[in-house]
Amino acid sequence: MLALLVVASARPGGELKPIALPAADTGGGRPLMQTLKERRSTREFDARKLPLETLSNLLWAAEGVNRPDSGKRTAPSASNRQEIDIYVAMAEGLYLYQAAAHRLEPVSAEDIRAQTGTQAYVATAPVNLVYVADFSRMGTQSMEDKIFYSACDTGFISQNVYLFSASEGLATVVRGSVDRPALAKAMKLRPDQHITLAQTVGYPAQK
Ligand SMILES: Cc1cc2nc3c(=O)[nH]c(=O)nc-3n(C[C@H](O)[C@H](O)[C@H](O)COP(=O)(O)O)c2cc1C
Repeated sequence: MLALLVVASARPGGELKPIALPAADTGGGRPLMQTLKERRSTREFDARKLPLETLSNLLWAAEGVNRPDSGKRTAPSASNRQEIDIYVAMAEGLYLYQAAAHRLEPVSAEDIRAQTGTQAYVATAPVNLVYVADFSRMGTQSMEDKIFYSACDTGFISQNVYLFSASEGLATVVRGSVDRPALAKAMKLRPDQHITLAQTVGYPAQK
């Protein structure tokens, strides 16, 4: 039933509505050592959509708020700048994950999955996460530091996604092979927003 909400979230005329994500199920998952044993990159995906509950758990695992009193996240970030935003490209459009509210804010009703990478599977896999560093949140750091720390912070988020995927039996691969200028244009990013990596998530292709 909840899975249908993603499909039903389009307003007439192609405009998207925000998606309130269900609370993450923080009691589940496989034991850590078994999950680490299964962690891998997979590049063959089924086109089936992820249920909303799975998307909710995935995004919370990635960089959700795990300490509401401080607003701190499942992934560490240098000086707690929390500069990495996760954009979620799906068939119905592009959304921005808002961790504090645990919801998806619509960005555009266009399907830009094909532009999130250079490999064919990105166009048909159900979810492509695009990690975007907002340099305006990084204060007066040098550009070299902004690039270094935002790359590090992305790595932690990406590994959270790898571990969640391994735990859930999902397929995922993180990708640096991205035409960043073209994707930034498709996403209408500001000049101080910098795409670090992208990551595809879905069910593994059925053999
Ligand atoms: C920073 C980074 C960028 C990557 N970029 C790509 C990519 O563009 N395309 C791809 O298919 N795999 C990409 N990968 C996945 C690696 O190829 C993969 O992690 C490596 O082959 C080891 O395989 P494993 O993840 O299954 O251990 C990337 C991995 C990292 C850490």
